[in-house]
Amino acid sequence: MPEVDPPLAIVAELTHRCPLQCPYCSNPLELEPGRDELDTDTWRRVLDQAAGMGVLQVQFSGGEPLVRRDLEDLVGHAARAGLYTTLITSGVTLSDTRVDALVEAGIDHVLISFQDANADAGDYVAGYDGAHRIKCEAAARVRDRGLPLTINAVMHRQNLARMPEVIAQAVELGAGRLEIAHVQYYGWAMANRDALLPTREQLDEATAIVEAARERLRGQLVVDYVMPDYHAMLPRACMGGWARRFLSVTPSGKALPCQAAETIPSLSFPSVRTTSLDAIWRGSEAFNRYRGTGWMMEPCRSCDRREIDWGGCRCQAFALTGNPRVADPVCHLAPDHGALEPALRAARAVPPPLVYRRLGGTIVVPEDAAPLSVTPS
Ligand code: SF4
Ligand code: FES
Repeated sequence: MPEVDPPLAIVAELTHRCPLQCPYCSNPLELEPGRDELDTDTWRRVLDQAAGMGVLQVQFSGGEPLVRRDLEDLVGHAARAGLYTTLITSGVTLSDTRVDALVEAGIDHVLISFQDANADAGDYVAGYDGAHRIKCEAAARVRDRGLPLTINAVMHRQNLARMPEVIAQAVELGAGRLEIAHVQYYGWAMANRDALLPTREQLDEATAIVEAARERLRGQLVVDYVMPDYHAMLPRACMGGWARRFLSVTPSGKALPCQAAETIPSLSFPSVRTTSLDAIWRGSEAFNRYRGTGWMMEPCRSCDRREIDWGGCRCQAFALTGNPRVADPVCHLAPDHGALEPALRAARAVPPPLVYRRLGGTIVVPEDAAPLSVTPS
């Protein structure tokens, strides 16, 4: 098996069950049902294997990981194994009892996702009445216990105008870090791309606000900002490069190099039920397929940036061209760069209603799904 560095972090997607219904959900189109989820013992074994490989961090994610009653057990197990533990949660079920139990178990850090700074708009996007208020209460509980808090704000054309409020909200909630992430378009978010992709003008305005806030809040709030790929000229090193830093385990135990990897139908993924994490990481075909630079075609193969961005995002290359091996079309050098045009044109038109889903795959388009305060420029 090839010698490769161990992953920096594993993402333990404990469940796809979730009380919210965000129309940009990063979980796959076909959610894994609760009956297929790994049991506590299997997750414990996976955590031990991760620590044994030299992994430093585990991110407990979902769906909503608090749906699992054994979350505190798993956090405690990971902490005893020496892993830095982060809970990634919507916060809507983060009660006082659960926060206390998590602190007792040894949780290191909590990240709460927010859909907006405006309560009505946030509830609308989450598909959950009262979600915004409950999230604010959950954030206060986390801070009361002295835990480091990160706020994750997912931005798109329907909330970008409220960037100043989103930043002010993170300060008010006592977060040490604010992750501002634009929606990435694969999986379910692709169905809502025309409703969510901002125009270049909207983006430039929001970016200026973020840059000013970074200066103003230096020493108080760290602001991470991920630009929407479609407006960039060069791609991101998605996941730090395929199978270089992260390994994700789905609720049923499939090991993936990124959370969207299952959108690429030519790949099949090994299970942690039958194969060790180390064997999967170093030896599996799916992890090795796009690792490094050997798989690249031109223009990536001879490009100076090939070990900087690793050719961009494989899932995005597939979503936009049907071929996961080509240069990410975001790149201005990519032969498929024109594949972004229809989306950029749609961003200037009136947005269509959001398309929602529920566990089990039913698509729900609410009758009152009028777009929020959007003024196409
Ligand atoms: Fe990155 Fe490939 Fe574009 Fe070079 S050609 S910048 S490696 S995507
Ligand atoms: Fe899969 Fe980028 S999301 S490689």
